[in-house]
Parts: sequence; C-alpha cells; structure tokens
Amino acid sequence: MTDQPREHWDRVYTDKAPSEVSWFQSEPRPSLAALARFDVPHTTPFVDIGGGASNLVDALLANGWSDVSVVDIAASALAAAQVRLGEAASSVQWVVADITRWNPPRRYGVWHDRAVFHFLTEPEQQAAYRRALLAGTAPDALVIIATFAPDGPEKCSGLPVQRHDAASLSAALGSEFALLDDWREEHLTPWGAAQKFSWCVFQRASN
Ligand SMILES: C[S@@+](CC[C@H](N)C(=O)[O-])C[C@H]1O[C@@H](n2cnc3c(N)ncnc32)[C@H](O)[C@@H]1O
Repeated sequence: MTDQPREHWDRVYTDKAPSEVSWFQSEPRPSLAALARFDVPHTTPFVDIGGGASNLVDALLANGWSDVSVVDIAASALAAAQVRLGEAASSVQWVVADITRWNPPRRYGVWHDRAVFHFLTEPEQQAAYRRALLAGTAPDALVIIATFAPDGPEKCSGLPVQRHDAASLSAALGSEFALLDDWREEHLTPWGAAQKFSWCVFQRASN
C-alpha cells in the first residue's frame, strides 16, 4: 500500500469534526451490543482496529475494560480521540499503523474492526490483514468485524470498498476463525442516509 491512504485519512480527520463523517455514531451501540452477546471478562486485552476517533474507547473505559488499544493509520484521528478523553487517554495504548503492515506486539483477546476491512479490496491487502490478525489474536479470541453489506454503499469516505456477508468474510479470514454469529444493521449517517452493514463475530481456534 502506498502512503496515499494515510494522507487521505489524515486529511479527513484534520478537515472534519468527528461528528461530520458518515460513520459517526454518538454512541457505539452496535459494537457494545455485539460484545454483550458474549461473556468476555473486561480484563481481556481489546484492540480496536482502525478505531479512528470513535467513542467506542470511551464506552469501553466507562464499562471497566482495563486493557484497551486503538490502532489507526491516521495520527490525526487518534489525536482527536486523545483530546476528547483527556486524562483517561493515558490508560489507552495508541498505535499509528497501517493494518496491512502492522506487526502486533502482543496477542489480543478481542479484535474489533468497524468499517476498516472493507477498504481492503485487493487479495494481497486482505492477506496482509489476515497475517496481522493471526499474529495479533490469542487462542479463543473473539473477532468482531463490521463491513458494508452486499446491498450497502459501494464507497466509504470516497474510497471504493468490498462489501461482505458472513460467507465472504469467513473465506477471507480463513479456517482458523469459526463464525459464531452474524447479523445485519442499518447505520444512519449524521445526514440521515441509511447504510447497510454486515456484522460478524468469529472465534479463533484454541490452538
Ligand atoms: C470508516 S472509518 C471507521 C472508524 C471507526 N472504526 C468507527 O467505527 O468510527 C475507517 C477508519 O479506518 C482507518 N483506516 C483506514 N485504512 C486503514 C489501514 N489500512 N490501517 C489502519 N487504519 C485504517 C481510517 O483512518 C479510519 O479511522
């Protein structure tokens, strides 16, 4: 991947307030609802891939999650989240990295990705994501991924996306990840446009 995506994303978060982007949610309800379906101890290492300026991290900290990391290609996105969180930002691990080039330093028990994987439209980008996923998840880890659904938008933030359902996402992640559950969600952008999402939860095999 060239540095073009990094520049794109840095500019997005510099030019727009967090609440002006299509993926903004005042509360990260779908992610919290996904987590609530599974009984995961809040001490489990949690990583939000492409977390951007999402307020999921705020909600996790408020709910007692004690080991939270946020990874994003755009330093400007993480800076916006850090300013919003204030002192609480120091209890989060912030990583500026391109997921297709990232070497995770440890293994997480929850891997969460809302609207990032769908930007990886080339097989080699998806393979690189899978390498990071394999290196960055512990045995039995939960992997929660939301992408645009097959009848969702063809672009996000002006970039082409690959839309997924559970079958295509399962195929992309590989046999180490067993599908536990999947469902559809309709996200409303701040200007009221409906976007169809596919949510999938996988569990990594025990060994
Ligand atoms: C549509 S936004 C979603 C942000 C956040 N997950 C949310 O739900 O609010 C996509 C995010 O992925 C980040 N991103 C895009 N490509 C990336 C990559 N290759 N590696 C890491 N982050 C990436 C962007 O900077 C942006 O924050």
